[in-house]
Amino acid sequence: MNLILFGPPGAGKGTQAQRLVDTYGLVQLSTGDMLRSEVASGSDLGVRAKRIMDDGQLVPDDLMIEMISRQIDAENGSGGIILDGFPRTTGQAEALDNMLDTKGIKMDHVIQLEVDEDAIVARLSGRFACSSCGTGYHDIYAKPEVEGVCDKCGATEFSRRSDDNAETVRARLAAYNEQTAPILPYYEEKGSLKRVNGLDGMEIVFAEIRGIIEGE
Ligand code: AP5
Repeated sequence: MNLILFGPPGAGKGTQAQRLVDTYGLVQLSTGDMLRSEVASGSDLGVRAKRIMDDGQLVPDDLMIEMISRQIDAENGSGGIILDGFPRTTGQAEALDNMLDTKGIKMDHVIQLEVDEDAIVARLSGRFACSSCGTGYHDIYAKPEVEGVCDKCGATEFSRRSDDNAETVRARLAAYNEQTAPILPYYEEKGSLKRVNGLDGMEIVFAEIRGIIEGE
């Protein structure tokens, strides 16, 4: 099974992708995580991407399409993939369709997490992650069981994303509204778009996604 998780910054794509990985053994392909790895490695792409990400803009299509194509090839033969953060422009959506045709892969669901802007700001301003294993948390909605200790790996160092500040969040939202939301009619016309209320609690959102996947 292959699916696309779609939604604005902070909609809960990464949170739900992690649950899908744990429950169905799917592989999460997050273009944001891939770019952050490039930034951490100090590669030429990482240096270029960091400037763009910190401005809340989108990295050029040609770079993203090549990056995701390589990752899909690497995971072909696994139990299925979750695209998290790709496609983000009409050009990426069209390139993805061609790529999937060429590789003989079928996309089963495009799931859109719907949230409003107030929730986005509240979610992103409280988000942090374990510096060791990357598990995501939130100051209010998803605290570690023991304060200051990662539930998953026991590490005690956490970090916040440099693009989660108020100014960059505003720019990311504008980029989403101008360049990413216009893709939705494309998937609607193809009949593959399913909408989920992303404002509900994490477990309710996950139950709805499971319902879609399991055809309930
Ligand atoms: P990326 O990393 O993809 O960021 P994003 O799309 O802005 O999404 P986020 O990771 O911020 O949010 P999310 O929806 O995963 O929410 P999460 O689950 O963490 O991209 C970063 C940048 O890279 C882009 O700005 C761009 O520059 C570049 N980029 C990436 N892909 C690109 C592409 N294809 N083309 C061009 N450029 C690209 O949840 C957020 C918080 O809310 C968490 O703390 C969580 O605990 C909490 N939360 C989640 N769900 C709930 C809930 N139901 N109730 C309460 N709290 C919740």
